[in-house]
Amino acid sequence: MNKKIRQIPAEETYALRQRVMWPQKPLTFIILPNDAHGIHYGLYVDEVLVSVVSLFIENKIAQFRKLATDQKEQQKGYGSMLLTHLLNCAEDYKVNKIWCNARLDKQDFYKKFGFSPTNTRFNKAGQDYVIMEKYF
Ligand SMILES: CC(C)(COP(=O)(O)OP(=O)(O)OC[C@H]1O[C@@H](n2cnc3c(N)ncnc32)[C@H](O)[C@@H]1OP(=O)(O)O)[C@@H](O)C(=O)NCCC(=O)NCCS
Repeated sequence: MNKKIRQIPAEETYALRQRVMWPQKPLTFIILPNDAHGIHYGLYVDEVLVSVVSLFIENKIAQFRKLATDQKEQQKGYGSMLLTHLLNCAEDYKVNKIWCNARLDKQDFYKKFGFSPTNTRFNKAGQDYVIMEKYF
């Protein structure tokens, strides 16, 4: 199996984002207003896109969004590979901090990468979130 992580245009993340994260919503729901300013990464297995994530940097603070692995490829370590790559890239960009809106049930997953939950929680479209952050 040939695994590769590549930087990709925002548009290439859309189908996976929608299918994995918001299958009940139209494609327009998963397009972010600042996608054009993001850095997008895709993990390919034998040239098939299986996992995506997007990084946004502003004033030395990074946010990552829309980490999604194709349903049938989950639990194989691809999300972890991509997140590790993303954290290395964020470090290369010399950011002080990285944060994300984590789905509440994914908190423990992010803790393994050094993220800590903040006190900020919210609900969007019926989904509970907690803001998590990691300092470099
Ligand atoms: C969250 C998400 C991106 C994780 O992607 P993934 O590719 O499944 O991630 P991994 O395979 O690296 O890790 C998932 C779990 O499998 C475990 N795992 C990693 N490699 C594994 C392997 N080779 N064999 C078995 N399990 C493995 C991880 O430890 C992790 O366990 P945990 O959930 O108990 O922490 C994926 O579940 C997803 O797309 N979910 C829907 C969208 C979503 O919720 N996105 C995140 C929004 S905050």
